[in-house]
Amino acid sequence: MVRVTKPTGSIFLHNIPKWLTYYATYLNKFANFKHWISWDAPTAPMGKSLQPAHYGILFYTKEIKGTKIYELRHPHKRDRKQGYLWKDYGGKKDLLHPFGPLVSDVWTDIHRIKHNTKRDPHPCQLPVHLMDRLLLLTSDENDIILDPFSGTGTTAISAKRLGRKFIGFELDEKYVEISQKKIENTSPNFRLGKSWVSFYLKDIVTIRNNDWNSLSKYFSIPNPIRNIDFERVKLIDKKLIPNDENNLFETSKQGKNTIDVNINKNNVVGTYLTNLADAY
Ligand SMILES: C[S@@+](CC[C@H](N)C(=O)[O-])C[C@H]1O[C@@H](n2cnc3c(N)ncnc32)[C@H](O)[C@@H]1O
Repeated sequence: MVRVTKPTGSIFLHNIPKWLTYYATYLNKFANFKHWISWDAPTAPMGKSLQPAHYGILFYTKEIKGTKIYELRHPHKRDRKQGYLWKDYGGKKDLLHPFGPLVSDVWTDIHRIKHNTKRDPHPCQLPVHLMDRLLLLTSDENDIILDPFSGTGTTAISAKRLGRKFIGFELDEKYVEISQKKIENTSPNFRLGKSWVSFYLKDIVTIRNNDWNSLSKYFSIPNPIRNIDFERVKLIDKKLIPNDENNLFETSKQGKNTIDVNINKNNVVGTYLTNLADAY
């Protein structure tokens, strides 16, 4: 994985903490550790001990310097019923960023797919907007994203809708077929103007910090800004929200079996690369 990653590229490894400790020991010899991202999502209980409440995502870069990494923002966390800000910023509300805080290495705002009606027949399917966040963090339009354990194509869907290219490896033909159909129904439309963003349930859940200047014109922003305490930024034109819902899981039985996932050795060498190996 490290060999085929571009000098500007990153490698991600997703698993339960127990296995990540082994992978990290190995990867530390070949790549540059950046972060252990803690994704707040319940995992399988491990006996009478602490309840496992997070997956880890190891974030490595190929090189120590020169990696593509972008600061991200996510919406302010709010009380679901009242809509007030979750955190008490006291007298500092005027200083708040209208969209939301910078993304840290603890992710609590992306939930696992719980309902069987909203998932493919795959035991470990990840939410697409989790992948969106990783790709917005470390890649640009037209970069190549590799997922060697592609499952039902979550990474490929994320890459395509964010204007990236992608390569996926998957052993199980049934999962490849599901991926093909979903990829075919996906468009590179997760953008506002020139900026790529991550939408989820008709909301924007991740943006790049640098993009806010050009994105802000699409939002109505509370004025004065301290009103952000009870008023959220809103997209002015809801028609700009892509209708992506059908691409998150296998809903469509129509469509041809052509595939954009290009398993061509020559294309892998020197590509930008993301590895999302998962837990079993
Ligand atoms: C944990 S799942 C990935 C799920 C994926 N992230 C998603 O959201 O759909 C891992 C996948 O890797 C596949 N797999 C396991 N070993 C493989 C191999 N050597 N080459 C290609 N695929 C493999 C399995 O069939 C399985 O679907």
